[in-house]
Amino acid sequence: MKKKPKRKTSRKTKKSVRKVVRKSMKKTAHKKPKRKASKRTTKKTQEKVSRTHKKFQKKTLKKVKGIIRVPSNIPNFDRLTEGGFEKNSTNMIVGGSGCGKTVFATQFLVGGMMSGEKCLYVTFEGQKDEFYTIAQTFGWNLKEYEKKDLFTFLEYTPSKVKTMLEEGGGAIESLIIKKKISRIVIDSITSFALLFDDELERREAALELFSMLSKWNCTTLLTYEGSPGKEKQSTSIAMEFESDSIILFYYPRYRGKRDRYIEIYKMKGTDHSRKIYHFQILKGKGIKISTSPKSNPPLG
Ligand SMILES: Nc1ncnc2c1ncn2[C@@H]1O[C@H](COP(=O)(O)OP(=O)(O)OP(=O)(O)O)[C@@H](O)[C@H]1O
Ligand SMILES: [Mg+2]
Repeated sequence: MKKKPKRKTSRKTKKSVRKVVRKSMKKTAHKKPKRKASKRTTKKTQEKVSRTHKKFQKKTLKKVKGIIRVPSNIPNFDRLTEGGFEKNSTNMIVGGSGCGKTVFATQFLVGGMMSGEKCLYVTFEGQKDEFYTIAQTFGWNLKEYEKKDLFTFLEYTPSKVKTMLEEGGGAIESLIIKKKISRIVIDSITSFALLFDDELERREAALELFSMLSKWNCTTLLTYEGSPGKEKQSTSIAMEFESDSIILFYYPRYRGKRDRYIEIYKMKGTDHSRKIYHFQILKGKGIKISTSPKSNPPLG
């Protein structure tokens, strides 16, 4: 008698296979609506991000003597200014070429981004790649922040600046509102004055720029290339009057070597230090201000 061929799969095995298939079908059936819910998930994530953003803001912002302060992320600067820049203020960083204005302003933005704040860097000079490479030497990965939508690099041409003033904000304002920007750096506004032929026109444009900046509810740093204490143009005088604070940078040469100094020249509503401090620009770190003032700085 011929032997019955053995069943390849026993009933038991078939049963268990069916179970597995059913289970996996259940799993996939469960997965499908998940995909549909992805839109909802994105919205939820966005809400979560904005909640975290607010939480971070609460964490970073400090109220000192009734004024909300934005930490600068510059070691020792906040100690000299009762906690940092006033929230939604417009501040001028003034100094000669190479004194550290851009490093200071970028470090301020990085501090915001580390806390989840959205930051905007506006420049009239372009050179984005070079700017990112230099920032990397301080350990600041701007590309990464850009990917996370925390950092926006904006190259602005002089004609665009004129349009912005004429339109009362224009594209840049829409971007600030859309992205919920809270820190802005304009690096630099030195060439701003050159856009206008007439002296009166220049002053008016400077005032317009400042009123626009205050309308945006951001904490702004404007870098300005000028020698502290030297004779000024009326445009820069107008800006100085309008700005909430002026931080002066010095880079004098003494005994064959240049050193860097910083002075808080003015900060509205703040009992700030009136002394001059030595500071360093350090690879991998950025700007670091000395804890004690320099008694007789050789400012020339
Ligand atoms: N990785 C680094 N490590 C140490 N110091 C650096 C580093 N990168 C730049 N510096 C110093 O910072 C200086 C430039 O600083 P910064 O660009 O902030 O000046 P600035 O005031 O913005 O000048 P400008 O008005 O020309 O734009 C350099 O000349 C150099 O002395
Ligand atoms: Mg610069």
